[in-house]
Amino acid sequence: MSDTIEQTLQASISDPSTFWAKAAEAIDWERRWDTVLDNSNAPFYRWFTGGRLNTCYNALDRHVEGGRADQVALIHDSPVTGTVSRFTYRELRDATAEFAGALRRQGVDHGDRVIIYMPMIPQAVIAMLACSRLGAVHSVVFGGFAANELAARIDDALPKVVIAATCGIEPKGVVCYKSLLDNALDLSIHKPDCCIVFSRPQIKTKLVAGRDIEWDEALAGVEPAECVSVSATDPLYILYTSGTTGQPKGVVRDNGGHAVALRWSMENIYGVKPGEVYWAASDIGWGVGHSYIVYAPLLSGNTTVLFEGKPVGTPDAGTFWRVVADHKVQVLFTAPTAIRAIKKEDPQGTCVEPYDLSGLRALFLAGERCDPDTLAWSERTLGVPVIDHWWQTETGWPMASNCLGIEQLPIKPGSPTRAVPGYDIRVLADDGKNVPTGQIGAIVVKLPMPPGTLTTFWQADQRYVDACLSQFDGFYLTGDAGFKDADDYLWIMSRIDDVINVAGHRLSTGAMEEVLTAHPDVAECAVIGVKDNLKGELPLGLVVLNSGVNRKDDELAGELTRLMREKIGPVAGFKLVAAVERLPKTRSGKIFRGIMKKIADGVQWKMPATIDDPAILDEISSALGSLGYPKISLVDRLKLPVKNSARGAGGSFNRPHAVNR
Ligand code: COA
Ligand code: AMP
Repeated sequence: MSDTIEQTLQASISDPSTFWAKAAEAIDWERRWDTVLDNSNAPFYRWFTGGRLNTCYNALDRHVEGGRADQVALIHDSPVTGTVSRFTYRELRDATAEFAGALRRQGVDHGDRVIIYMPMIPQAVIAMLACSRLGAVHSVVFGGFAANELAARIDDALPKVVIAATCGIEPKGVVCYKSLLDNALDLSIHKPDCCIVFSRPQIKTKLVAGRDIEWDEALAGVEPAECVSVSATDPLYILYTSGTTGQPKGVVRDNGGHAVALRWSMENIYGVKPGEVYWAASDIGWGVGHSYIVYAPLLSGNTTVLFEGKPVGTPDAGTFWRVVADHKVQVLFTAPTAIRAIKKEDPQGTCVEPYDLSGLRALFLAGERCDPDTLAWSERTLGVPVIDHWWQTETGWPMASNCLGIEQLPIKPGSPTRAVPGYDIRVLADDGKNVPTGQIGAIVVKLPMPPGTLTTFWQADQRYVDACLSQFDGFYLTGDAGFKDADDYLWIMSRIDDVINVAGHRLSTGAMEEVLTAHPDVAECAVIGVKDNLKGELPLGLVVLNSGVNRKDDELAGELTRLMREKIGPVAGFKLVAAVERLPKTRSGKIFRGIMKKIADGVQWKMPATIDDPAILDEISSALGSLGYPKISLVDRLKLPVKNSARGAGGSFNRPHAVNR
């Protein structure tokens, strides 16, 4: 009889070395490891030290040599260009080896960094795999970020080469990536040796002489590169994610642990066997895209789908179901926000009707909390298990899930089920003690975390310790709060830091505040995440203007919105701004963002004892009210606590002006 989830979890926690050594048999090693779990430099744990391998070899060459040469490895389905193309494992290996040769000719070597700023096209995947073939460290930057964010990543990663495409294609039109890259390189202090630019037919931009090389030109006459043997502990990639400040954190992933964990996860979590078709409808710029569009399915010999489109509007709300039917997808992974977008356009789920979805076995959702309505709608519409699972960029693969390849547990809507084997998850109170069952606390993972999770932040070991390891000795702080129920199911309730989740994209309110305060008229501000039916959360800025400044609401909101798009990018979805006279603070000056969020979301809140002036919260309520928050019924609104204003309704302040664009 096969092991239950409980037995597998216990085995992974009580003897991680034996557990992961067994999983590592599924990977081809050039040299086997000396130590499975190396704790000689704790809390910086390392996996498979002494081992040598190549990730690209395991993702491509091994399958070509092992009988999958003619199996389709990658399907690029692009409703925005009206094209579908396929690469077999042999074709993908050959294209990758050639492009690795092109990178080598530009001087890229083991350990060098390469930034990839590309849309969802096969060349992006080829560029990632080519880096791993050479032992170079790639860092993919999501296309929806502005030039400023790209520049910050260039200055942190110090890439030798940047690889870009001329443009991405969004439903509203073509986005010129090349001009964003040019702007970023004007802003950045570090300049790469060269940029390799893939020209798409939609935009042919001018190349900068002496710096830019066209993709085809870079490939002309190159020798395909072989796989370079790297140490299991060498970095494979850096992926920047939002922290609590404007400076993004570069999550570092190694080669050996990553290959082992991702290969294991495909069969055990997703229940997907080699040869099957798997589709993660995300973007290669996010952790989900790295792990489940590129590495995990290829390491496992699957066919992976690279989808260049949106859940709605490309061309309609049936596009996901068309892709599932056309490519015989067996397991689909996306974000709840994508399903909400489909559900909004097609509440009855009739868009599935033209398609044969009989091959689909399960839908996995992650990136944000999955609301029970979305889960129920998906189950009803698709007729397959819908699995909410929880993870983050730092871990690179799920921490909690219903593990379909081990034992399918009952689904409790709103919970991502139980800890995945490898993760010893606890819920702690401020004093570091376990909170009782059912009570909310900080969700942490006992160290060491399993293979495949981050090894550190790029060039910032101390920041990693300060941000993740120092709050509770011996534990990794996930940044999420929640509880465990009597069946050991986890319930993820909120973040404990200033990170918000907009359409499954993680963004820092701290970074947005830095942008707002850079405006010459803004004295101070607070950005909070407010509930949104489609995107989960939207950022809302409360700004205090410099004294004497008198601005038209719409004009100011327009300027701040443009500034945010320019500095952070359109993906932030920033458009809600309210000008207020003051912000609520503790006597020591800390802003009460949490309470303002509760007011905006229509959640019960208590007047904090430490507030310097309770009347401010009335003013904030009024400003939020002008933006339509809380978005609740009048009946519910009447149930909200009414605060007595120390200053009274007719206080000496001008009425705060709120603007909604
Ligand atoms: N390149 C350039 N611009 C991009 C981009 C990219 N890769 N991705 C998004 N943008 C831009 C959009 O064009 C849009 O710009 P606009 O404000 O000028 O119109 C802005 O960023 C916001 O885009 P998006 O987040 O896609 O919002 P939307 O309202 O257009 O669509 C959803 C809403 C729900 C359909 C969309 O957010 C979605 O598909 N979400 C799923 C996200 C996901 O898969 N996350 C995975 C994490 S696991
Ligand atoms: P990211 O690193 O961008 O993938 O964001 C990770 C964060 O998204 C987590 O720390 C959670 O706050 C949130 N998240 C991801 N998946 C889930 C889920 N299934 N349920 C609740 N929150 C989730």
